[in-house]
Amino acid sequence: MAFTIAIDGPAAAGKGTISKAVAAHFGYAHLDTGLLYRAVGRRMLDGVDPLEAATSLMARDLDATDLRSPEVAQAASRVAVIPEVRAALVDFQHAFARRDGGAVLDGRDIGTVICPDAEAKLFVTASAEVRAERRFRELREKGVETSFDTVLADVRERDARDMDRAAAPMKPAEDAVLIDTSDLTIEDAVAAAIAAVVEKGAVR
Ligand code: DC
Repeated sequence: MAFTIAIDGPAAAGKGTISKAVAAHFGYAHLDTGLLYRAVGRRMLDGVDPLEAATSLMARDLDATDLRSPEVAQAASRVAVIPEVRAALVDFQHAFARRDGGAVLDGRDIGTVICPDAEAKLFVTASAEVRAERRFRELREKGVETSFDTVLADVRERDARDMDRAAAPMKPAEDAVLIDTSDLTIEDAVAAAIAAVVEKGAVR
């Protein structure tokens, strides 16, 4: 049985946490599609042509912990505007989405472009200030020296690039359930997501 859950939204809205929890709850596999773009962005920073990087991407490229840095996030957002790069990553995502046993994919264009027929679609969002605050705390805990204003500017720059690009811009699918996590605890956000997916017919 294939059941696809598409979870989109901007950086640091809680997508990753919610996607992992939803996948664990239903026993589905989870793909963080941002890692695909981060792996390509990482290789671009090393001087590799982004399209070449996208066509030769391998599963082990998605494991590196240095894919989580702000520098790689910006590089990912920059390679993500290139239509050919996006096209090169489609087959992998489709195959993952239709695997037996159910799949959760999170990203920016899953409900709109990659899996328009997904059984359940969520768009997880939060104000830019709340997202920057969360990201700032995460980075500080990891020992990264930065300021709140730098992180906020970074979040805003990436949002603008991801929303305004011509190829598969970030936006909620018409049939997506919106979850604003600005004033929700993690537990409440996860519970809201699970309830929305159950509503669409997923059984635990
Ligand atoms: O989710 P993330 O922050 O790891 O994503 C990094 C960048 O990759 C994001 O700024 C835009 C791009 N991206 C995309 O264009 N489409 C996706 N499905 C996932 C990520």
